[in-house]
Amino acid sequence: MKQRIVCLLPALLLVLSTISAQHNPGVQIKKSGDYPQLLVNGKPFLMLGGELGNSSASDILYIKPSWGHLKEMNLNTVLVPVYWELMEPEENRFDFSLVDSVIAEARTHGMKIVLLWFGSWKNSMSCYAPLWMKTNPKRFPRTPDSTGRSQEIFSVFGKETLAADKKAFAALLRHIKATDEMKQTVVMVQVENEIGMLPTAREMSATADKIFNANVPAELLNYLKENKNRLVPEFKQKWEDAASQLNGKWNDIFGEGVATNEIFQAWYYARYANEVTLAGKAVYNLPMYVNTALPRAGKLPGQYPSAGPLPHLMDVWQAGAPALDMLSPDFYNPDTKYWCDLYTRNGNILFVPEMQFDKAAAAKAFFIIGHYKALGFSPFSIESDNSGSMPLAKTYDLLQQLTPMITNKQWLNMEGVLLDKQNKKIGLKMGKYQLVVTHDATLSWSPEAKDSVWSATGGIILQTAPDEFIVAGTGLVVTFENTDKNFVTNIAAADEVSYIRGTETKGRRMNGDQDHQGRHIRVAVVDWGIQKVKLYNSPAKIDN
Ligand code: DGJ
Repeated sequence: MKQRIVCLLPALLLVLSTISAQHNPGVQIKKSGDYPQLLVNGKPFLMLGGELGNSSASDILYIKPSWGHLKEMNLNTVLVPVYWELMEPEENRFDFSLVDSVIAEARTHGMKIVLLWFGSWKNSMSCYAPLWMKTNPKRFPRTPDSTGRSQEIFSVFGKETLAADKKAFAALLRHIKATDEMKQTVVMVQVENEIGMLPTAREMSATADKIFNANVPAELLNYLKENKNRLVPEFKQKWEDAASQLNGKWNDIFGEGVATNEIFQAWYYARYANEVTLAGKAVYNLPMYVNTALPRAGKLPGQYPSAGPLPHLMDVWQAGAPALDMLSPDFYNPDTKYWCDLYTRNGNILFVPEMQFDKAAAAKAFFIIGHYKALGFSPFSIESDNSGSMPLAKTYDLLQQLTPMITNKQWLNMEGVLLDKQNKKIGLKMGKYQLVVTHDATLSWSPEAKDSVWSATGGIILQTAPDEFIVAGTGLVVTFENTDKNFVTNIAAADEVSYIRGTETKGRRMNGDQDHQGRHIRVAVVDWGIQKVKLYNSPAKIDN
């Protein structure tokens, strides 16, 4: 009898694991409704992340001491590169030891992981491809520069390159599925890193010329036809300028010039990324995205890393790479609002995998999560000794406290603000109220009032009931006015609050100097805090 049970045990375990895998909802992006969400094991997850510097995860001992610091900064997710050259040092010989150790550390520290596939391209170049590929340009063709010299950039038309990338990426996903599916430490994967063409807007090889002089593929033409009313305006314009044709070569459809060269290259990058994504998802269906290097103003295609998932090429990427869940911007410029507005067109969900890690990042997190309902936020080189660490830790602390409320959508309206000296005042309409949010330094008694430069500040505001708001952040002043001018609005109560696993604890009653004797809600520029605000309304007209 005992022997029979022992014999049946492996079969029983297999059945049990199959049943539990079937009940494991995995990691998904819920796209329906006005509030997209990342669901991990069926539960909403707001990613408070940080991305490691490029080389930091290539040595287990180098990064090991940083995990405690990342936890202290209140991160719940770390974005970690996977280096193709180290993962497949010889063709078909895979070594997952680095990725395994990162997953083990993340689990020890109660964190999630986003894997960044440094595959065929990393910031335009192919520097992370294994040496057995780099040294075989016949099998894995490279692109020429503007003088015709070979560059360490793989051609997008290399069939064996794509096959090798797909195979390695699928091997990675297979390993993650086998070792992590039940724990779901890895919650998302980035496909390649900042794909982009340099120093020409498209590849100028003989192969590329031949394809460029052929007809535009039917898939792209069909997309143009079916989506003509929702194309992003700058792309639509290019097509309309060339008479909105639906048959012909690249120059016929989009006109002659570097912009068309870039569209052509973008299409083939998107197709390549789509194939890699599909190869990975076929093995383990995790959410996947590509990230983008944003161009500097005034630069033409070819002068910046071109043809990546840039805003003016969104349609090309969405048509060419439908398997991707998102196109994501990397921020190393100050124009946060400008680029986020562009990246939230065409139904694209915002996720910010890289943000310059400085003091302002802490304010931007509130804005990006509150205003754009982003899935997550992640400053770059998060393990570095940085003046942004303390502010970010405080912001992530507040966001972590508010996460159940944010992700369970316990709000009627949610907003985020970002303020500095140039953008010192923002108006928000929430329910029947008009809110005016100003930078703390607009108050003459603010510690920064006389400074020539003001800190970037920000906050998140949740309207939790018709007359109730949660104001969280740093360096802001909020006033409330009823949009019905027959009433005046005043503060019934403002309480400092904190949340532990969703349970509210009240702190100080913020009256007197703290709310300027009932005139406004304030979190000073040196503070980070959450206040629960109740309002009351009375007739504007005094009858007596
Ligand atoms: C953007 C890239 O995606 C990162 O890997 C890194 O190179 C940063 N730029 C800047 O260092």
